[in-house]
Amino acid sequence: MKLFLDSAITDEIKHSLEYWDLDGLTTNPKHVKNSGKPFLKVIEEIAELFAGTEKPVSVEVDPHITDWEQIVEQGLLLSKMSPNFVIKVGASEDGFKAIRELTKRGIRTNATLIFSVAQAWHAARAGASFISPFIGWKETYGDSTATFILEVAEMLERHEYDSEIIAAAIRNGRQMADAALAGAHCVTAGLTVYQESMQNPYTVHGEKVFQSAWDATPKS
Ligand code: E4P
Repeated sequence: MKLFLDSAITDEIKHSLEYWDLDGLTTNPKHVKNSGKPFLKVIEEIAELFAGTEKPVSVEVDPHITDWEQIVEQGLLLSKMSPNFVIKVGASEDGFKAIRELTKRGIRTNATLIFSVAQAWHAARAGASFISPFIGWKETYGDSTATFILEVAEMLERHEYDSEIIAAAIRNGRQMADAALAGAHCVTAGLTVYQESMQNPYTVHGEKVFQSAWDATPKS
């Protein structure tokens, strides 16, 4: 399962490229706002960080645009800025049409804000390269996600669609593990979510036990 960072903060991206050999990046308007920089500046900086790699970078079109022709127009402009850019498009009738048109033009897309298997199916049929089920958001509102990724994965496999699932809005290591076991191709989460998932109180306790043993052992 590929590890994508969900961020538009360049220091976080540099850290995760260096430490984790990041497989790709996802951004959204919220992350761009949190970067504190203008949209075009931050995506140019991000493009630079991934230049010369084949790692996909999802960049979302203006979410106010609801007309497919305008989504395509903006998607084409963004895709010219970097070969790494994957155009992130919200799930809707116009969004799926835009994905279909961008796909015809050889532009990769990420269908975002996916909350049902039916939406994932429409995205796959339209040719989306990536499909992003929002696990954390569903759970926040009390929905069960136990079988969501599994069902999307089964639908893609059974009907031989090429889209890859990005388990998105992941909040903890358990959700990462569930996504991996259910067949997600990629996971995307924030920097601290990954860092927390690398830790465990038992590991900290175990290190202390081993440090005491080390200290109590003559070295020669
Ligand atoms: C995924 O591509 C989204 O950017 C992301 O996971 C949205 O969720 P969050 O910003 O609430 O974590």
